[in-house]
Order: sequence, then C-alpha cells, then structure tokens
Amino acid sequence: MSRPNTPLLFFFLMFFQLCQAQRNDSVSCPLDFDVLRRLIQGYKPPSGDRCQFILEGLRLVQSDYLKRTDSFLPRVDSAESCWNAYQALYNQFVPNFDIRKNCGFQTDWISRGCKNITSRAEYEANNSPQTLAAVSTACNQSLLNSSPCATCTTSLSSLQPSDSVNNTVGNVSDCTAYRSIYAAAFANSFGPDDKGNAECLFSLNFTPVKSSNNKQKKAVIAVVVVLGFVVLVLCGSAVWLIRRNKLKKKIRQREITRRWSDLNMNTSNSALESINSSTTLIRFTFDEIKEATKNFSRFNIIGRGGYGNVYKGVLFDGSEVALKRFKNCSAAGDSSFAHEVEVIASVRHVNLVALRGYCTATTNFEGHQRIIVCDLVKNGSLHDHLFGSIGSKLSWPVRQKIALGTARGLAYLHHGAQPSIIHRDIKGSNILLDEDFEPKVADFGLARFAPEGVTHVSTRVAGTMGYVAPEYALYGQLTERSDVYSFGIVLLELLSGKKALMMKNDEQHALVADWAWGLVRSGRALEVIEEDIPELGSLEVVEKYVLLAVLCSHPQLYARPTMDQVVKILDMGLAVPTIPERPIPLTAGIDDIEKSVSGHWGSGRVSSYSRLQAIKLVTDNST
Ligand SMILES: *[C@@H]1O[C@H](CO)[C@@H](O)[C@H](O)[C@H]1NC(C)=O
Ligand SMILES: *[C@@H]1O[C@H](CO)[C@@H](O)[C@H](O)[C@H]1NC(C)=O
Ligand SMILES: *[C@@H]1O[C@H](CO)[C@@H](O)[C@H](O)[C@H]1NC(C)=O
Ligand SMILES: *[C@@H]1O[C@H](CO)[C@@H](O)[C@H](O)[C@H]1NC(C)=O
Ligand SMILES: *[C@@H]1O[C@H](CO)[C@@H](O)[C@H](O)[C@H]1NC(C)=O
Repeated sequence: MSRPNTPLLFFFLMFFQLCQAQRNDSVSCPLDFDVLRRLIQGYKPPSGDRCQFILEGLRLVQSDYLKRTDSFLPRVDSAESCWNAYQALYNQFVPNFDIRKNCGFQTDWISRGCKNITSRAEYEANNSPQTLAAVSTACNQSLLNSSPCATCTTSLSSLQPSDSVNNTVGNVSDCTAYRSIYAAAFANSFGPDDKGNAECLFSLNFTPVKSSNNKQKKAVIAVVVVLGFVVLVLCGSAVWLIRRNKLKKKIRQREITRRWSDLNMNTSNSALESINSSTTLIRFTFDEIKEATKNFSRFNIIGRGGYGNVYKGVLFDGSEVALKRFKNCSAAGDSSFAHEVEVIASVRHVNLVALRGYCTATTNFEGHQRIIVCDLVKNGSLHDHLFGSIGSKLSWPVRQKIALGTARGLAYLHHGAQPSIIHRDIKGSNILLDEDFEPKVADFGLARFAPEGVTHVSTRVAGTMGYVAPEYALYGQLTERSDVYSFGIVLLELLSGKKALMMKNDEQHALVADWAWGLVRSGRALEVIEEDIPELGSLEVVEKYVLLAVLCSHPQLYARPTMDQVVKILDMGLAVPTIPERPIPLTAGIDDIEKSVSGHWGSGRVSSYSRLQAIKLVTDNST
C-alpha cells in the first residue's frame, strides 16, 4: 500500500483541527469509523465512483451504529464531527479529497434519512412480522457467494417504506439504504463488518492494493529473479564444496580407523573391539545409514521378510549397497551379533554376497537398531526369476551356472571358511543373481538373528518352511548336511519350476522332494524337468542333475552328499551315488498320515509341515 508521507498527513490533520475549532463542534461523533477502517485495511478504494463508495461506506458504519444503539442516524449536532471523522479516514487512502464538497452532501444530511425514521422500532413498525422473519431467514447466512446474496437482496425488496424521492431528505440515507443498513445490523448474525455483508449489502468490492506501476513492477521482478539466481548458484556451490570436504574427511577417517584397527588387531580381545580388525568391514553410524537410505524411505525398500526390510542405499562414496534392517532387536545380543558379523565379513567368495559393514545403535524413537550393509546384487533373486515376473524363462546353461555357483558358494562356507559357517536358511530368495546370472548366496550365518515366530518352525530352528531339513526341524540337529537338504530343494525348484511346497490338484501341499523322489523311483526322472526350458542340454546330464537334487534332499542325513562332493559331481562329471531307498508310502495323503499319528503330536508346538516330515522320518526308522 502506498502510504502518504507522514509529515503531510500530520499537516492535514492539524489543518482540519484548526478549522473545526472555528466551527461549533462540541458534540463528538457517535459513529465508529474504525469498523470501516479495519475492513479496507490493505485495500484501495476504487477510483471510479468515489462518492458512491463513500456513501456505501457511511451506510455500513451507520449499520454498525444501528446494531449498537437501535438508532439509524446520529444526532444533528454531531453531524459536523462525523463528517470530519469520515474525512480523516478517507484522507488516509485518498488525500486532498473533500467529501462534502466533491459529492454535494450537506452537513445535516448525515443525520437525516428515510421518512425521518431514526429508530429500529419505527422502521419495524412499517413492516409485518412475517416480512421481517422472511428477511431474517433469507439473510442469516454467509453472503460471500452470489447465490445467498441474491436470495437476501431479493427478500429485502419487500421491506417498507419503499423508496421515493419525497420520502428522503438529501441523498445520503434513502429508504433503499435503510434496508441494507437494517439487514446487516439485525437479520444477518455476522454483523455489518463481515466481508460477505460488505460486498453483498453495501457493494463494497475491495481491490487489493497493487504496488506502484507496471514498469516498476517489471524492474522489481527482474531484480528479484537475478538476485535469486545468484543466491541459488552461491548456495549450490557452497553445498557442493561442503559435501566434497565431508566426503574427503569421511574417507580419511575411515582410512585412519582401518589403520588403527590393523595396529590393534593382535591386542584386541572383545568382539566389539576386534570388529574393525577386518580390513574391509565398516561400522557405520546410524546417521550414515539414514543418509544412505533417505531415512529408510519406503521407495528404497527392495525386499521384505520376517526379519525386517531390505533397503537399497547409496553410501557416501557413491557405491550402491543393500541394507538389511533387523526388527525387534534388543541391545543385549549386540556383542554376539558383532562377532558374527565379523566372522561373516571375513568370508569372501565370488558366489557369496560380500558384507561391507554394519550398524548397531539405540535411537530415541525407533528402538534398538541392527543393520548390515552388503553389496547390492542387481538382478533380483532366483525366486524372482523362477516364480516372479522378472525376465523370461531361464535357459538350461543359466540354470547350470546357478546350480554350480550356488554349490560352490555353499561349499566354501562349509569347507573353505574358518570357522565353517552353516547357512541355515538357503532358499530361492536368498540366492541373488548379478547381471551375468552368476549366483551370490546371501544372508549366510544371519538366520539366527531373525526374530522368532515368523519364518521359524520352533525356537531352536531358523529357516523357512519347505526348505528346512527334517532332522533340523524336528530335533534342532544342525549340521552342514541340513544346508545340503535345502540346497537339494532349491535345485529341484530350479529344475522343475515348482515351489518347495507344491500345490497339488486337491489344494493340498506336497513337498517337491517327495514328488521328485516318486518320479525318480519309477524311472521317470526326466519328468521332473520343467517343460520348454530353452537350450536344454544332453538328457544324460539333465538326468544327473535330477538324481543329485533328489539325493541332496534325502530325508536321511547320511544319504546326502557334502557340498564339496556336490561341486565335484556337477563340475567334474563324477557319477551320482546310488540313492538309498526311502520306504515312505508315497500314495498316502497328508491327511491320512496326520490322522494316524495326531495323538502323538498333540502339543501343537510343531507345525503341520514339520509334523509331516517327522512322520516320514518315524516311518523310515520303524520300517
Ligand atoms: C455551539 O453549540 C452549542 C449548543 O450545541 C451552543 O451552546 C454554543 O453557543 C455554540 N457555539 C458557537 C460558537 O456557535
Ligand atoms: C447528492 O445530491 C446533490 C444535490 O442535492 C448532488 O449535487 C450530488 O451529486 C448528489 N450526490 C450523490 C452521490 O448522488
Ligand atoms: C423530517 O423532519 C423535518 C424537520 O425535523 C421536516 O421538516 C420534514 O418535513 C420531515 N420529513 C418527512 C418526510 O417527514
Ligand atoms: C414530491 O413532492 C413534489 C412537491 O414537492 C410533488 O410535486 C410530487 O408529486 C411529489 N412526488 C411524490 C411521488 O409524491
Ligand atoms: C442467525 O443464525 C444463527 C445461527 O447460525 C443464530 O444464532 C441467530 O440467532 C440467527 N439470527 C437471526 C436473526 O435469525
């Protein structure tokens, strides 16, 4: 808003006070022009018909007066001071404009109105109660929109007295004006100073104050744009510089930590201290993890499991990683967790997902945190490729590569790593594939840190339904051969395209191992193979894979080969040993078996899946 400069305004006010002193002005004005002042604050009176605007503004002030005093008009002896008050207000917006002179108003007209009616009672006496009620009904709502405004103004036309020149003294408050003055005061509960009433009943349409003229505006905009651009560029380069410095500092810090821990390697005793002794394992801060995952943005989630979510992230050095966040952890197990992570990180093999670092932290809002950071393997998991929507059907050479690579990775865990590591949770979704379909086994050694009761069969067992070896599921007996069983199941999935827990026609579950064994026993091993596998190799080799898979998933522990033997069979063309007989009545349905032994397994602790496997073991042993 363009304010007139203050000394000039002060001069004007002084001038008017001098003039008033000479006139008879002993009675102050009872009208409250502040009502109007508040309404037009920040607005500019329209320059078009100033006198009309002045009249309507005065009527609004009169309406406020009527509401407060039940009287339409100020007394005649206050007319002079009322005009002066109004003049002072108006001069704040439009200087040098004499209201009375320019609009032809005589001083006493402010105190004279429609038919000399001055009070609310006099006015209402001219109208029936029904008319007044109808006006109340029509006008007692927000009049901001045109529709309610039209309803209200239509009802006002029935109010008496209707206008006629002879009823009115002068042209300040005629009988038409009285209708609006009355309605704003008594019919509408928002009152005269409501914006809707001002616009509808008094036609006071305010235009927001605009800054100076167009040329100036354009210049100002140009300057602002240029300034903004300069500030942006400066900020951008500052942020870039800071980030670069930070990154350098971080990398330097890492190197120092690493060298320091190399020095300490031989002297450190506790698991937490020795964690940094591995040359590559990094202990991340929770802030670094949050930065890498964009504060665990859900758009970064690339996997979900019973243990928690897996996030994709970018480290400070720009490398892409997968971050596994365990849920429901407590600080209690941190030292064994750190120790385990250290062991895992020391295991490096082309067919194993490399662990880069980890983080343990206690946060205020999200509880205790355990996160491990691994290399990101970008081509999805074997499960995704076999059963999900990723890519086309895997060709036979690719399947061979996956089988052999997985076997090599596991063989290294069992026989190459010191101490040897049992994976515990081998399954299709833990075998990740890179761009060349080279498999990388993920999550080894971590299954026991997953929370209980999600994928687990019992408190002692970590693993996933369908893949867990029977002796492990039932007795918690954990050896490398349990991993061999799970590998056999994954191999069967890879060959048959069927899931570990198959759906049979009658909507019952069956184990893919039992189904394959049935086919192999009846000499139809090749029927295990999925139809239409591209580039299928020699049937002799294909059959060997099937026999090996069935052998690996043998329910009896010692029938299974070791992972070293598996690699030799696959890689060097050794023959598959004879598969020992497993005398299970294959024709029996799950329900039959469950019914026959339900009394023995009444505790409900073991799931029906492991019960099924147990039954088979029991049957095996008893026959
Ligand atoms: C001003 O008006 C009052 C009555 O309202 C009167 O008594 C007084 O004499 C008047 N003064 C002048 C200077 O006209
Ligand atoms: C009011 O009436 C006077 C004459 O009595 C006239 O000069 C003036 O223009 C009128 N003002 C308005 C706003 O109608
Ligand atoms: C209003 O009152 C004045 C004097 O108070 C009188 O001269 C005039 O005739 C009245 N007008 C009407 C319409 O009653
Ligand atoms: C208004 O008064 C004038 C005389 O002052 C008269 O000639 C005219 O007819 C009157 N108009 C109405 C509508 O009463
Ligand atoms: C107008 O409506 C409000 C409620 O919206 C009510 O409190 C008030 O009494 C009403 N006024 C009239 C005059 O009807």
